[in-house]
Amino acid sequence: GKRTFTMIKPDAVGAGNTGAITKMIEEAGFKIVAMKKTYMSKERAGQFYAVHKERPFYEDLTNYMSSGPIVPMILEKDNAVEDFRKLIGATNPKEAAEGTIRKLFAESIEANAIHGSDSDENATIEGNFFFAEIEKF
Ligand code: GTP
Ligand code: MG
Repeated sequence: GKRTFTMIKPDAVGAGNTGAITKMIEEAGFKIVAMKKTYMSKERAGQFYAVHKERPFYEDLTNYMSSGPIVPMILEKDNAVEDFRKLIGATNPKEAAEGTIRKLFAESIEANAIHGSDSDENATIEGNFFFAEIEKF
């Protein structure tokens, strides 16, 4: 697939790392198709992460994801989903490889700086959660 979806999470936006992270994304060869700064209510965060509804961290996760602004983006590159997950690194920054976005910017397993879709199908669903058809050139 050629596209994936990402969002810079509230910890990284709040720490002023939006520019540095966006620069790493572009330098890794991803084209930014769509981008904005916005905010999720707790209810919308719950919808976005509905797949994790039964997990013990769901309540914390939806509180955290609605705690401040986020920067969602649609990205384009060959093999986008897999290559982007490599660029961001493991969910837990303690396990993330050197040079990955989470190694550099994540605070904890929860406040881990950035999201990356885990499949082509979810990339489309998640992109449509934030962007209208006319925004996805
Ligand atoms: P995303 O790209 O954000 O989907 O992360 P991921 O695919 O690497 O992880 P996963 O989908 O399993 O979890 C979604 C998000 O929930 C993570 O990015 C974290 O923000 C949070 N999370 C995952 N595991 C834990 C956990 O054990 N404790 C807490 N507090 N949060 C977690
Ligand atoms: Mg995930």
